[in-house]
Amino acid sequence: MHQVLTRPSLGFGLGLRVDHYEAILAGRPPVDWFEVLTENYLVPGGKPLNYLMRIRERFRIAMHGVSLSIGSTAPLDREYLRQVKALAARVQPEWVSDHLCWTGVAGRNTHDLLPLPYTREAVDHVVARVRTVQDLLERRILLENVSSYVSFRDAPLTEWQFLAEIAERADCLILLDVNNIYVSAVNHGFDPLEYLNAIPPARVQQIHLAGHEDHGDYLVDTHDHPVRSAVWELYAAAVRRLGPVSTMIERDDHIPPLAELCAELEEARSVARRALAGGEAIRPSAHAAPAAGLR
Ligand SMILES: [Fe+2]
Repeated sequence: MHQVLTRPSLGFGLGLRVDHYEAILAGRPPVDWFEVLTENYLVPGGKPLNYLMRIRERFRIAMHGVSLSIGSTAPLDREYLRQVKALAARVQPEWVSDHLCWTGVAGRNTHDLLPLPYTREAVDHVVARVRTVQDLLERRILLENVSSYVSFRDAPLTEWQFLAEIAERADCLILLDVNNIYVSAVNHGFDPLEYLNAIPPARVQQIHLAGHEDHGDYLVDTHDHPVRSAVWELYAAAVRRLGPVSTMIERDDHIPPLAELCAELEEARSVARRALAGGEAIRPSAHAAPAAGLR
């Protein structure tokens, strides 16, 4: 049903946030595209959708959801998927993404992006559900790796094997969150480069960057800080391996003025440029204890 894989390059984007609506419309921010949180725009005729459609006239848009719960054993929410499809028909996004996780079961929504057991059974389960979703939406979706703080004891696969196998077998795409890889690498004690090197490059359509909070022996994916230097370093490794990939910075709390995020986006451009040119000079890690592969 799907076409051959191609990777449209949107350049460097930001998450669209309410605080920045007016500044975006009033000026010409140096942002190539915006990622929008799907759930904020599902109500037809609302004020947020009105802003989005005005911003849409000037910027390319990607839709990013948090409610798919692709790994749950609860039935897929067909009404939610109908709404996502209707919004996509209206916004005409470059792509639609959600997370490789589960958010609830048996009618309970935790509003958290929970990790899955990395088992063959879970791979089969998620693959079947991704295929159904892609058939319903009539497009490939992107699934994002989430950060995690706990893991399942009986998990024969690594997270990267789990993600890669689902992407290949379900014929879906990957939204690679480099910060999430780093956070989970520190929390679970694996090498983030081993993760990165196992991801099929052709499947990676987008990269997320974000800040995290350092609690000493564990990290929390808070999205309320600038990107940490160890994550810039891992991003450079990702660009070297994957080539140019549409990249965006997520900031969900302590949201600074748009100009400040634009300056951080300029840093992303510069890290990517240096990585592609084969240069190094990424700042040494000053925040988090680097995991094995980054020492
Ligand atoms: Fe993310």
